[in-house]
Amino acid sequence: MTRAKRAWRIAAVLSGAAAAAVVGLLVLTTARPSGRALPEHLADPVRGEVLYHAGGCISCHKASTTAGVAGPPSGGAPFATPVGTFWPGNLTPDPGTGLGGWTAEQFVDAMTRGVSPDGRHYFPAFPYPSYRAMPVEDLLDLWAYLGTLDPVSSSVRAPDIPMLGLARRGVGLWKMAALDGSGFRTDPNRGASWNRGAYLANGPGHCGECHTPRNALMIPDRERSFAGGPHPRGEGEVPSLLALAARGRYSDLGDLTLALQFGETLGYDKLSSGGMADVQQNLAMLPEDDVRAIAEYLLSLE
Ligand code: HEC
Ligand code: HEC
Repeated sequence: MTRAKRAWRIAAVLSGAAAAAVVGLLVLTTARPSGRALPEHLADPVRGEVLYHAGGCISCHKASTTAGVAGPPSGGAPFATPVGTFWPGNLTPDPGTGLGGWTAEQFVDAMTRGVSPDGRHYFPAFPYPSYRAMPVEDLLDLWAYLGTLDPVSSSVRAPDIPMLGLARRGVGLWKMAALDGSGFRTDPNRGASWNRGAYLANGPGHCGECHTPRNALMIPDRERSFAGGPHPRGEGEVPSLLALAARGRYSDLGDLTLALQFGETLGYDKLSSGGMADVQQNLAMLPEDDVRAIAEYLLSLE
């Protein structure tokens, strides 16, 4: 074989390998519907409404002319993040601009895998890494509740992010490292209300999305759950939720429950900035037992 021939052959092998790597990456970063069948479940929109408030959907999916927590989640208000600005969409059953044309399977895929019906990866600014801890039955209750809302037509706007298509593929890679497979697990050594609180805080409530520090890849550091740290949206610091009673932040369960229900209107501090005011207003919509369950869980964190 001549030198030139060998060089050509090496070049061919290398470009073949490069092409295979590109195809591999494209395959790896392509989002696919899970195609999984949903369990038989008689969905309960009343339970779903509680999960809707616990999940704080309105905080991000509010209309641009905001009408508070009771307003429709018809989308359109800007949601600024360090990667760019999103306009989270319309969650009402409007067929044109909302979820009217979606199936329950597509909704569950979005909430648990961050995958859109047309096969794109959602950015984790949509806190599906927490929502994926929710059992499918709860997601179906939430879906049933959204289905009871009046359809509102709204504008749909793509996020303002450089190289959006490529960035979405990058999210596909991030998910491989960041999403854990485990759903919420009940702790048999704890009571029912502690477990309810743990579930609401870690699943729908997604409290750790802000209160748990992240590593350099923006993956929450589970070893330091709820230890506080830099705000993921760059708005200063998020306080620790560990040892709240030992540090004298709240005197007891009743005190923290009141703080979560009424926030700064009752003279509690550290419950308004960096998105916490929205969280608190959503918590105020929950049945009191659920707020107390969250407080019980928080007070057990050391
Ligand atoms: C912290 C902000 C935030 C919260 C809270 C939030 N979302 Fe979203 N959501 C987003 C963003 C941002 C997107 C768009 C992500 C993208 O385009 O990659 C999104 C997208 C979605 C989508 C895909 C369709 C669409 O409108 O773009 C669904 C469905 C959805 N969210 C449902 C919910 C539900 C249900 C809740 C409450 C349980 C919720 N979201 C709470 C930020 C949020
Ligand atoms: C969007 C980010 C974000 C989310 C989500 C979030 N928090 Fe917060 N939280 C904050 C910030 C920021 C503060 C500090 C607010 C201030 O100083 O005004 C805070 C403060 C608090 C405090 C007061 C701490 C103290 O020292 O008194 C409590 C309690 C709390 N959060 C509980 C929760 C619970 C429970 C959840 C989930 C249901 C939650 N947070 C979800 C950002 C968040």
